[in-house]
Amino acid sequence: MTKKMNKEYWEERYKSNEIGWDVGEITTPLKEYIDQIENKRLKILIPGAGNGHEFDYLIEKGFTNITVIDIAEQPLETLKKRNPKYIKNFIQGDFFDFDKTFDLIIEQTFFCALNPKMRTKYVTQMHSILEKNGKIAGVLFDFPLTEVGPPFGGSKEEYINLFSKKFNLKTLESAYNSIKPRKDRELFFIFEKK
Ligand SMILES: C[S@@+](CC[C@H](N)C(=O)[O-])C[C@H]1O[C@@H](n2cnc3c(N)ncnc32)[C@H](O)[C@@H]1O
Repeated sequence: MTKKMNKEYWEERYKSNEIGWDVGEITTPLKEYIDQIENKRLKILIPGAGNGHEFDYLIEKGFTNITVIDIAEQPLETLKKRNPKYIKNFIQGDFFDFDKTFDLIIEQTFFCALNPKMRTKYVTQMHSILEKNGKIAGVLFDFPLTEVGPPFGGSKEEYINLFSKKFNLKTLESAYNSIKPRKDRELFFIFEKK
């Protein structure tokens, strides 16, 4: 049976420093994707951002409208300390209750951190908080889905089935620029809201 992964669960993971997903900096697939975006005024959301290395990178690159949401307090406090100017951009809350809209949503190890039963709800929520032609982009794991997780796996086929009703799947391919521990284990994707 899948464990209950509520706010307390995530707070505890941060408290006990069991955060193996956090590589301490932005990963190459996201970095290289961000590097080619020209419009720095896009409204960007990073859900389940954890320590939010992507936030720092986006700020460094001159993006002006970035929101972070995470259910856990501790990583947001860390982000606030590093970025005191942007305290208002950091929201502690449940992604599934959020109702602002965005042009671009960045995904990395958030989808795989959720109970797999939430996947359809994730797709619906992503769709509803994107502007017209808005996009989700990032990485999804490419290893078999089992009861063991997080992270919970998935496959290209599963993602096609899950997302194609509500999104145009612009890109969904094995990432060529993964960090070493994730090599051949993740798919880079760009899905545009239908
Ligand atoms: C595996 S961590 C990934 C963190 C970050 N994306 C990274 O790559 O370092 C998953 C994150 O999602 C957050 N989270 C889990 N469920 C959430 C929810 N329903 N709403 C918002 N954040 C959530 C957790 O607190 C945790 O920070």
